[in-house]
Amino acid sequence: MRTADNQPAKRDSFASSFGVLVAMAGSAVGLGNLWRFPYLVGQNGGAAFILIYLGFVILAGLPVMLAEFIIGRRSQASARRAFQVLAPGTHWGITGILGVICCILILSFYSVVGGWGIEYLFKSVRFDFTYGNQENLKTLFSSFSTSVWRPLICHTVFLALTAGIVIAGVQKGIEKFSKVMMPLLFLIVIGIAVRSMTLPGSGPGLSYLFKPDWSKVTSQTFLAALGQAFFSLSLGSCMVITYASYVKKDANIISLSAQTAAADTVFALIAGCAIMPAVFAFGISPGEGPDLVFVTLPHIFSQMPLGGVIAIFFFLALLLAALTSAISILEVIVAFCMEEFKMKRTVADVLVFFVIWVLGCLCSLSMGPLSSWKVLDKNIFDLFDFLSADFLMLLGGLLIVIFAGWKLGRKVVYDEFTNGGTLPVPAWMLKTLLFLIRFVAPAALLAIAIFQIHE
Ligand code: PHE
Repeated sequence: MRTADNQPAKRDSFASSFGVLVAMAGSAVGLGNLWRFPYLVGQNGGAAFILIYLGFVILAGLPVMLAEFIIGRRSQASARRAFQVLAPGTHWGITGILGVICCILILSFYSVVGGWGIEYLFKSVRFDFTYGNQENLKTLFSSFSTSVWRPLICHTVFLALTAGIVIAGVQKGIEKFSKVMMPLLFLIVIGIAVRSMTLPGSGPGLSYLFKPDWSKVTSQTFLAALGQAFFSLSLGSCMVITYASYVKKDANIISLSAQTAAADTVFALIAGCAIMPAVFAFGISPGEGPDLVFVTLPHIFSQMPLGGVIAIFFFLALLLAALTSAISILEVIVAFCMEEFKMKRTVADVLVFFVIWVLGCLCSLSMGPLSSWKVLDKNIFDLFDFLSADFLMLLGGLLIVIFAGWKLGRKVVYDEFTNGGTLPVPAWMLKTLLFLIRFVAPAALLAIAIFQIHE
């Protein structure tokens, strides 16, 4: 059955508030927390980076998340149509299209890294790291990631798993999967953090995480922290708009946003506690870069008592975290195709699978045979990462807060925050949140953009 504007009469929706929270947290907690956050902390001076990051989460991340929640829940529509529904006859729909493009780029390289996670889970189950030294493990990783077939197969498996969950829909696929996997994921990472913090010599790792060294902070640190906050909270890509469109009208979007941001940040800190103390306990430099998780950690696991088993749990956690995020990225694109081109979920899912599969293959091959294909001096993998995390997400975030704060305006914002006056939200809180959406978040985003152009 279809309604007058030819939309499916009944939209999928999340069954419960807990379901929304685990799905949102599932999207936020991902490779960003376990792979990107630890190495950025390592490269940017530890605690000082973390403090700047926390500042951006509150001043820019939270307002953008609230704005996306408002747009998605109010319109009950996917990325582009959400803007069309709320501002008919304008060009704001472009923001949604940028979000979809951003998701296509992210999922293409995300699926490749998720595939590496599968390979490393297999390696750890076979106890492949047991006798490795740092050099061996570096060679192991680079010969794997630059080869042709194995990474492609792993990417295919990862993407097929993702598409398999999304095909089952919002309630039966995304919500069900996240409800089981998210608690498991938290437990595993807490267990590894306890092991890491009780290693002899782990103290300096903890003080690196919690005692700021401001001398390492440069202008680049600020861009890295802002980009990471957006990537980790899945913002500016219309992902929150899409999930929020499945949220019921009586849910409290202020507390859902705050809880999602808190869960993601706490998880990143626990991941830091799982990784840094061990890195220091084994006398390794924390600034290893993107190889940290695939080279340094296996090296540490190979030396640590019970390391073989910890390795299995770590890569299992990495894979689960990556999957719950990948399904949210795919859902943005699938929901867009379903609503814009009136496709069935199955057809949209299979079609998008193929498009991302091809782009992901290019990303994977750009590590090896296609490494000479460069744009802006970057291979395809780095180009996709840069265009999405350092550019489209921030631009999307800026457009989204301006849209919610200025185009929709105060009445709509307050109406969504209080569910039409039925939730008792204190006036000071409404005013502060509106101020963050209207002024603080756009100013922070613009300042970073201008800073970047001047560099
Ligand atoms: N937040 C996810 C992570 O940290 C990545 C992501 C980006 C997910 C954009 C959805 C949308 O890994």
